[in-house]
Amino acid sequence: MSAEDTLTTDREAAVTAEVLDSFAATPDPRLRQVMTSLVRHLHAFAREVRLTDAEWTAAIEFLTRAGHITDSRRQEFILLSDVLGLSMLTVAINEPDAPGATESTVFGPFFVDDAPEIALGGDIAQGAAGVACHVSGEVRSVTGEPIPGARIEVWEADDDGFYDVQYPDGRTAGRGRLRSGTDGEYRFWSVLPSPYPIPHDGPVGDLLAATGRGPMRPAHLHFLVSAPGFRTLITHIFLAEDPYLTSDAVFGVKDDLVVEVSWHHDTPAPDGSHPDGDWTSIAFDLVLAPSDEH
Ligand code: BEZ
Ligand code: FE
Repeated sequence: MSAEDTLTTDREAAVTAEVLDSFAATPDPRLRQVMTSLVRHLHAFAREVRLTDAEWTAAIEFLTRAGHITDSRRQEFILLSDVLGLSMLTVAINEPDAPGATESTVFGPFFVDDAPEIALGGDIAQGAAGVACHVSGEVRSVTGEPIPGARIEVWEADDDGFYDVQYPDGRTAGRGRLRSGTDGEYRFWSVLPSPYPIPHDGPVGDLLAATGRGPMRPAHLHFLVSAPGFRTLITHIFLAEDPYLTSDAVFGVKDDLVVEVSWHHDTPAPDGSHPDGDWTSIAFDLVLAPSDEH
């Protein structure tokens, strides 16, 4: 190593040491751990790529654009976390150690807190376009006991790949909340979801384009399931044979969450109704891990 190289390395190490030192007296030990680790890794990253002034400026401009496009209906920073795989890594780190429990996946930005209440067997589509789809299964514990009265929230994109919050007229469709029945059973009507692109008209979309990545997500139906004494489950079901299963823009697919769709024509549905034309059905059990709180 030349004398000049040694000087550069020493100068860089001195900056990192000084910043680490500035956090050394953080009273909260967890915050101290997180901040010192963040500084070590961030500085190591900048050193590894030999970050230029122009690249630092581009990064600041990128984050500024992300801030400007973010509002109560659009969260560009979560989208950034999603396309960098940080969201799914966090899901993986925090997955409960409960063999047999349904796996979790990304929450996504399209959940709405006050979705309409739907009776067991009701229709969450509420006018969303698409082929009718009957979804049913059981909510149970990892030891096989049914969980009655579990709160099940579901939301999905319509046939055109849009969630209701993306409709210009503000109407509610493709979402609802229901409760599992006395034997843990659940069932509802919806429409068959379609693949759709994540919002890609902002800086995150530009990043995907610049790196040759696509914005598409495979078709899926979101679930948020909660019951006293159990870990809240945030997951999706994906449809087998979807062309985007292996290239989900946010890395959310897990094999156990991929379900077969059954197609029906001119046959009565499980609830005795006779849907017009083709209809579909999906069976999927929701298995909850015990809560960490004892
Ligand atoms: C979603 O599935 O709704 C979603 C997840 C991550 C980013 C964008 C959308
Ligand atoms: Fe989604």
